[in-house]
Parts: sequence; C-alpha cells; structure tokens
Amino acid sequence: MNRTILIVDDDASVLASLALALKQAGYASRTAANAQEALQCLRREIFDAVLQDMNFSRKTSGEEGLQLLENIKTEFPALPVMLITAWGSIELAVRGMKYGAADFITKPWTNEQIIRRIETVLDINAAKADTTSFSREELDARYNFKGIIGHDPKLMHILDIVGRIAATEAPVLITGESGTGKELIADAIHSNSKRREKPSVKVNLGSITPTLFESELFGHVKGAFTSAVSDRKGRFEHADAGTIFLDEIGDLDFSCQVKLLRVLQERTFEAVGSSMTRTVDVRVISATNRNLQDMISHGRFREDLLYRLNLIAVHLPPLRERRDDIPLLASHFLIAAAHQYRREVGSIAPGALKWLQGRNFPGNIRELKHLIERTVLMSTGTALETRDFLAALAIEQEESRKDMLPAVGSMTLDEVERAMILKTLEQFPGNVSHVAETLGLTRQALYRRLEKYGIVL
Ligand SMILES: Nc1ncnc2c1ncn2[C@@H]1O[C@H](COP(=O)(O)OP(=O)(O)OP(=O)(O)O)[C@@H](O)[C@H]1O
Ligand SMILES: [Mg+2]
Repeated sequence: MNRTILIVDDDASVLASLALALKQAGYASRTAANAQEALQCLRREIFDAVLQDMNFSRKTSGEEGLQLLENIKTEFPALPVMLITAWGSIELAVRGMKYGAADFITKPWTNEQIIRRIETVLDINAAKADTTSFSREELDARYNFKGIIGHDPKLMHILDIVGRIAATEAPVLITGESGTGKELIADAIHSNSKRREKPSVKVNLGSITPTLFESELFGHVKGAFTSAVSDRKGRFEHADAGTIFLDEIGDLDFSCQVKLLRVLQERTFEAVGSSMTRTVDVRVISATNRNLQDMISHGRFREDLLYRLNLIAVHLPPLRERRDDIPLLASHFLIAAAHQYRREVGSIAPGALKWLQGRNFPGNIRELKHLIERTVLMSTGTALETRDFLAALAIEQEESRKDMLPAVGSMTLDEVERAMILKTLEQFPGNVSHVAETLGLTRQALYRRLEKYGIVL
C-alpha cells in the first residue's frame, strides 16, 4: 500500500514539485495551502507523515506554523511531522522539535534529501511501533552483536533498539559514562547497517583543535595554508557512502558546531581553500560522556545541533546499574587475558565474583577489563581470589604513588609541566578537553602550553 504524505505550504509551485517528487518515489500525497485545510485533510484521511513549511503563511513569523504543529500533535500524537524552515530561522525548527516535530529540513533542499529524510522518519516510526521484545539468543540470531557481552534487561533493550534502527539512515547519539561501551555500540550500528561493507570513519572531536577542524573534516587543497603542500581529503570524504562516527561530540568547540551543523543538515561542504561544493552521503553516529542538555543550558552546545544528531538517542547505563552482568563480563575478559598473557588462570572464585559485583567501577566496563587483565598478569593460582584483586589494586596504587614527584634538582618546573602534560595526554589520547580539565586548565591555556613546549597532537 502506498504511504501517504500531507504537504502543507502556501506556495503552489512548491506543493506541485514536492508532490511530483513524492510520486516518483512511490508515495501518495495530498496538499494543503493553510492550517485549516491541513487539519481538515488529516481528519478525513489516514496519513503516514506531514511535511510542513514553517513559514507557510507569508504574513507570519512562523508562529502560525508552530500553532498548526501543536494542533496536529494534540489531535494526532503518533503522526510524524517534518518541518521545513529557512536556514536563517533554524531556531523556529528547534522550537518545533520541542513541540514534538519528528525532524526538520532547511532550505534550500533537494528532492532527494527530502525523500531520504521522509523514509528515515517513517523507518524510525515503524521501529518504535514494533514492540516485540527478543531474548538474547533471538537478538543474536537476527543481528551481529559479536563481542557485546551481557544479558541485563537494560542492555538487551538497547541491543533491541540498535538492531531495529541500524538499518535506517537515522543519526544516532550514544550517551553514557566513560567506559560504558559507546564505541562498541557505534561499531555495532555500522556493522548491522546497509553500509556495513562501506567505510566507517571515526573522528575524535576532542582531539581536533578549532583551527584544524575544517581541514580535518572537510579536507584542504594544496596551498590553502602554509603547511598544505598537497590536496588532502577530509574525514567526511573518507566516510562517503559509509558511516562517520563523531566521538566526544560534547568536546567540540562552540565555534565549530555551526560548521558541523551545516554539513549534517545539507550534506555539502567545501574543502579549505576551495570554492567547489562537494556532496557526501554519510550516516552519522555520535557519542559523548557529557550531558549535552546541561551544556545547552549553559550556552556551550547548540540545541539545533543536538536535534540534528539525536533522531535516535541511546543511553548506556553505568556498570553499577547492571551488576548482574559483572560475572559474565569478568569471565569474558578473564578468558581473553589468560589467552593473551598465556596464563593458566581458568576461573574467578565465587567469593571474588561477589566482591567484584559489589564494586562501583566509576570507569565502568573498561575499568573492570583492566582490573581483570592486571590481576591475571600478577596472579599465580588457577582461580582468581579476592586477595589477588586486592593485591593488583595495591600494587597499582603503590606505583602511582612512587612516580608522584621527581627528585629535587632533577627537573626544572617547565620540564615537570611538560612531562605532566605529556602524561595526561597519554592517559586521554586525543581528548583535549579531558586533558585540559584534568590539568585544571582551560582548553586555550592548554593549547598555549602545547605550543610553548612544542607538543604536537
Ligand atoms: N557489553 C560489553 N561487552 C564486552 N566488552 C565491552 C562491553 N562494553 C564495553 N566493553 C569494552 O569496554 C571497553 C570500553 O568500551 P568503549 O570504548 O566502547 O567505551 P566508551 O563508552 O566509548 O568509553 P569512553 O567514554 O571512555 O570513550 C572496551 O574495551 C570495550 O570493548
Ligand atoms: Mg569512546
């Protein structure tokens, strides 16, 4: 059965061209020139989605568009409404998203973009409407979740969502504390998507300085700046036809956010030093351990960018909220570590498992993994006991205390500073914000020091 879209716009030529594009893509459509007509249509017939121009009435500032959206969402709460706005009035789109719009498209759009976005919204809707839930075995039979361990209902619910939405083109935002498995989930989305044979390009936005942002992401042409000795492709181009994983999105400098928004919105960009506009076809997955809502309320993250990223939001709970999975994870990491270090360790004693389950693991799964690895390395028995874990922890504490300060006269203050910066960079590879925060510096102050000490990221 054909899916039917209602198009609301006061411009007859826009209506005609959209209707034609939809028809060519196999959709049926109806058109409405104003709010009243739109509501009448919706009451008469069943629609799958609404495509609504926010400035459909020339007289208004968009308020009338918001009002219509509100009316539609009140009367037909499950019906997805997609907004079309001018780039200049993107805050209108943001308000619309708060009223429950499913997505927004900025002008100028191409028919191809619109069709694709409608398809995505309909796919998301279908995925949400399907409420069958699967056991872990069923999930594994349907999807590829290799390497993702766990039976906890919270994780299973996430895998369920991930499986359903992987095949759509929808942007996914993955949030969760450090070490909860965000990157693992991002990989799973790509490998269960139609793009699985295409490239998946990871970009750590925390490690890209604002000055290098455009050249890294969009590339540059030879001679664009002093060190640009040849043309270089950016990450978006490398990811063309595949997936781009924007890691640590919350660390992206505010000034760069609008540049990212534009490419996500229009799928076009220009390489630094070039005036040629290029088009890319990428699926966008992003991740952060920061609270973006909080950052928005402090004016540090663009709300329109958030709405562009999180058509699907996946939140990974901390390990302490899924303790039942600790034994499974622990034995998984034990087998891997024993194999890697060629140890005979075969198991974890029941008492030690209980002890592990009682811990809080602020570093989540990564911390558990490291603890098991260290303990396997140091233990001599065939089953790990609580005392083995305690001994591994004690040695680590001792080591970190030992290398606390160098002997007097062995280093100048500048050398200490340089060494500390390098050590912190090692701890958080590529994550400038984390490094700056840990050192008690602003990002700017850190950059100044990197320059002073000639440290290249
Ligand atoms: N469910 C899981 N099963 C097995 N291994 C896991 C699971 N979740 C996470 N891990 C492992 O834990 C480690 C941390 O995971 P990952 O790098 O995906 O976390 P993250 O959320 O991206 O962390 P960060 O915020 O620090 O970047 C990795 O070694 C990963 O393979
Ligand atoms: Mg990560």
